[in-house]
Amino acid sequence: MPEIVIGRDEEDSRKYGTEGTLSIGKHLVGTGEETHLTTPVLLDVLRPHVITLTGKRGEGKSYSMGIIAEEIFKLPEKIKKNLCCIIIDTQGIFWTMKSPDERELALLNTWGMKPRGFPVDVFVPEGQERLFSQAGVDFDGVFSVLPSELGIEDWLSVFELKPNEPLGVLLLKAFSKLPEAYSIDDITSSIARQEFNQTEKLALQNFFEAAKSWGIFGESKMPKLLEPGKISVIDVSLTPQNVRALLLALMSKHIFSERVKARRLEELSEIEITTLKRTPMPWILIDEAHNFLPDDSATAATEILSTLIKEGRQPGITLVFATQRPEKLHPDALAQTDIIISHRLTSKADVDALRSIMQTYMLFDIGRYLNELPKVKGVAIILDDNSERIYKIRMRPRQSWHAGASPVAI
Ligand SMILES: Nc1ncnc2c1ncn2[C@@H]1O[C@H](COP(=O)(O)OP(=O)(O)OP(=O)(O)O)[C@@H](O)[C@H]1O
Ligand SMILES: [Mg+2]
Repeated sequence: MPEIVIGRDEEDSRKYGTEGTLSIGKHLVGTGEETHLTTPVLLDVLRPHVITLTGKRGEGKSYSMGIIAEEIFKLPEKIKKNLCCIIIDTQGIFWTMKSPDERELALLNTWGMKPRGFPVDVFVPEGQERLFSQAGVDFDGVFSVLPSELGIEDWLSVFELKPNEPLGVLLLKAFSKLPEAYSIDDITSSIARQEFNQTEKLALQNFFEAAKSWGIFGESKMPKLLEPGKISVIDVSLTPQNVRALLLALMSKHIFSERVKARRLEELSEIEITTLKRTPMPWILIDEAHNFLPDDSATAATEILSTLIKEGRQPGITLVFATQRPEKLHPDALAQTDIIISHRLTSKADVDALRSIMQTYMLFDIGRYLNELPKVKGVAIILDDNSERIYKIRMRPRQSWHAGASPVAI
């Protein structure tokens, strides 16, 4: 039975067959009662992609993100060493990937699989260490940021200030008089020294005092994310959304510049055959992505994410955006998406957003495909721009513990 490989064009399919793929589920054939599972569905990891993973609340987006991470870990060493995976965890649900899921033994059995945990590396903000410990979260390291790593644009966007409103003007003035390695106290003192309305000075100082309680500032200890085969979980679940965006922006900028540098060396080594330590190609998995890259406003992460979307192919960066509302995602993300995995979705505006990307070659209506999906969790349609095909799929069950299940009131 020939497997279906998503995200691979004909030439690569001929060259690589099924090598370098993630086994994410099985092809669903038929409609309604007649639906049955057939061919394995595999996802290409040899090339960089932009993947939009969507579906209504509770339909399986975060669960499917976990499948991708599990599968990257299970790749043969020679491929895995060239990849790494970074999960931006907005709900604090991925640290449980360390534990096997014994609850779904029967389901796993039907797929010929066994429960198992995966050695993910979980990182939490340094100033929230105690909160995470008290909550019993098994984390592996902490991270922190030097205030001076933030530029004026970062501060403006994290406080949601415009440069032409009074507080923005005051911040610009205070910021221009800072030493290079400044602390938050340096900023508040500089604000105090400005000739400006006292009320506004106090208001802006309060913003910075509040920033100390975010728990992210310290001696700049960024986790090493670009390590061969490493799966990192960045737990930002206790961090306000604007600060999450800032953290994602700082990490993404670092990843982008490291991979651009590495790509140059890789190209040289292809010419000169030198041995070099590889900087793996990252898969960045962003849950609730519409909050980081919304269509109607800018966050601290908007600019760098747009850069990664547009220029990330050459340095080999894959982005996976999980969102309930594709319509609310920035158009750049949708326009560059080459693979859509859509669980059940009912809002017309969201289905239209998907339709608008892939309509050129679609023989059938996406809405019809979505309607045909049986009422079980983990089913989805996949739109593959590489092969210009559409499939119905049942994602495979997770081997590791998924912490995102809905609570039951009884
Ligand atoms: N492939 C699957 N196989 C079996 N069960 C699944 C599958 N996908 C999802 N589920 C079930 O659905 C539940 C909800 O999935 P998940 O947490 O991924 O939802 P979500 O789409 O991320 O929702 P939200 O938008 O609220 O974050 C899971 O806890 C799991 O029980
Ligand atoms: Mg989710």
